[in-house]
Amino acid sequence: MDIVNPALDDYLLDHANPAADDVLRDLAAETRQALPEQRSMQISQDEGAFLTLLVRLTGARQAVEVGTFTGYSAICIARGLPDDGRLIACDVSEEWTSVARRYWARAGLTDRIDLRIAPAADTLRALPREETIDFAFIDADKVGYPVYYEELITRLRPGGVIVLDNVLRGGRVVDPAAQEPADIAIREINDIVTADERADSVLLPMRDGVTVIRKR
Ligand SMILES: C[S@@+](CC[C@H](N)C(=O)[O-])C[C@H]1O[C@@H](n2cnc3c(N)ncnc32)[C@H](O)[C@@H]1O
Repeated sequence: MDIVNPALDDYLLDHANPAADDVLRDLAAETRQALPEQRSMQISQDEGAFLTLLVRLTGARQAVEVGTFTGYSAICIARGLPDDGRLIACDVSEEWTSVARRYWARAGLTDRIDLRIAPAADTLRALPREETIDFAFIDADKVGYPVYYEELITRLRPGGVIVLDNVLRGGRVVDPAAQEPADIAIREINDIVTADERADSVLLPMRDGVTVIRKR
């Protein structure tokens, strides 16, 4: 699904700031080359700049990412944190996150990112039940989104932000024939977030759909 035409898309990418530097460009190139079938899982450079901006706007120190892959979004989030900020990055793949670790080292971010290899629901449930998280990004298995959202919003401080990726599922959210478990889960989380009296939110037509949620 193309929300904007290719020329406008190039224009959007050219007008994201911070632009992708050598580390992000090389990471995107290595992911494209080594993992051609999975490469579309990586966020785009404008979405990366958007994450960095949101982390800075939130004044976040404690961040959580659900779905790390080869580490692109983690770099964008970690770069928005102060020197003493921390990002807990959740994934189940040693293989994909071994690429991430190399690029985090190159970006000088190793000390800022705490990678937890386990099902994200387990990692999140093990976090203290206190409102200490400032920023969270959810970009993993879609059927897990309702659980990830609930575990994170209860631990988010008032004014904290959660970002959900792929909330349009390539347009499948409005296709009645799309009934895969991931389609059902994404429609469910979109409805949960919209009705949630604990938060304000907006679903943006950026890439595959990005929802920004602020806890009241
Ligand atoms: C869309 S990719 C994440 C892309 C990443 N945000 C980036 O910018 O490159 C989804 C990731 O979620 C991970 N994942 C899938 N199921 C998971 C689970 N139950 N718990 C934690 N991570 C999971 C996959 O291993 C994969 O790396």
